[in-house]
Amino acid sequence: MSDIKRVGVLGCGLMGSGIAQVAAAGGYDTLVRDVSREILDRARAGIDRSLATLVEKGKVPAPERDAALKRLTFTTTTADLRACDIVVEAVTEDLETKNALWRELDGLCPPATIFASNTSSLTIAAMAAATKRPDRFVGLHFFNPVPLMPLVEVVRTVTTSDETFARAFAFAKSLGKAPVAAKDNSGFIVNLLLVPYLLDAIRALEHGVASVPDIDKAMQLGCGYPMGPLTLLDFVGLDTTYKIAEIMFAEYRDAKYAPPPLLKRMVLAGMSGRKSGKGFYDYSVTPPAVSRLGL
Ligand code: CAA
Ligand code: NAD
Repeated sequence: MSDIKRVGVLGCGLMGSGIAQVAAAGGYDTLVRDVSREILDRARAGIDRSLATLVEKGKVPAPERDAALKRLTFTTTTADLRACDIVVEAVTEDLETKNALWRELDGLCPPATIFASNTSSLTIAAMAAATKRPDRFVGLHFFNPVPLMPLVEVVRTVTTSDETFARAFAFAKSLGKAPVAAKDNSGFIVNLLLVPYLLDAIRALEHGVASVPDIDKAMQLGCGYPMGPLTLLDFVGLDTTYKIAEIMFAEYRDAKYAPPPLLKRMVLAGMSGRKSGKGFYDYSVTPPAVSRLGL
């Protein structure tokens, strides 16, 4: 049983809003912090929609949805998270952005508060070392879309105490998730294997192996994957994938993690995937059309 009562969530983009949703639905008072009211309002509307779908499908009873929504508080002030028992960070995949927040919170939160990062590829030790609580620092890596994907990788770094790891593992379980233990290597388990596959799909497109829809169709129908790799890239976010690839390439110096030139060019053009309306597909039309990529 988790001894945690109040949960802080830093960042409420794709992942933070999902983490806030499952924390509130799991019975925790949940405080969500992002940089603007506009972003917070968008996140709240997304959570409303997701919970409404779950109610419609009979997966969540309406009174539980209402109770979950009441447990959510949205703020633009980091200090509002000072009374949280655990803070889960899901801000942009950039070490300095994350560490600036950790340093600020480290001076505000009581010693028992656990700090947990949802990073996809950064080293947990590089964040733990920026605080005075390296023993109370873990990775809690959720998967997109958070309300539907059961897995959480619970990441122990060299300094994480057994008690902190056990509390974080119990917390993930209390959200109805299936946690697995992973060590603090860049990409943990899933991204170590998934990221080269996704980048190879872009390289296949660059080399003219097949069209965007045929690459997706091949992997869906040939391997039984729920989404093709280019659809999944749009779903994860091309900006986030580019950052992940750069970080993993810098860590392993292995060409399989190198971001393909096409990915960089799409990010430079503001094509971040589904969240920006355009990636390998154009989401401004229904059903989404294949984007013109100048190939
Ligand atoms: N909230 C609530 N319900 C939702 C939802 C949401 N956010 N999104 C979809 N749903 C519901 C739909 O209403 C639908 O319900 P029914 O089956 O009862 O009709 C159900 O979920 C399935 O949705 P769809 O029919 O629209 O689509 P789908 O069958 O393709 O399933 C999916 C959606 C679960 C996302 C599936 O496509 C999938 O598993 N895709 C792969 C996702 C994946 O690989 N995620 C990992 C990304 S990598 C990562 O996260 C790590 C990292 O660090 C980058
Ligand atoms: P996103 O771009 O959708 O959201 C990031 C959010 O962080 C934005 O709302 C932004 O305003 C906010 N932010 C930036 N600086 C902030 C600050 N100083 N204080 C508070 N909020 C701030 O990104 P995302 O996809 O949700 O990814 C967030 C984290 O989760 C990253 O570390 C990413 O690697 C990881 N992750 C992403 C996925 C995925 O599929 N996208 C899956 C698992 C893990």
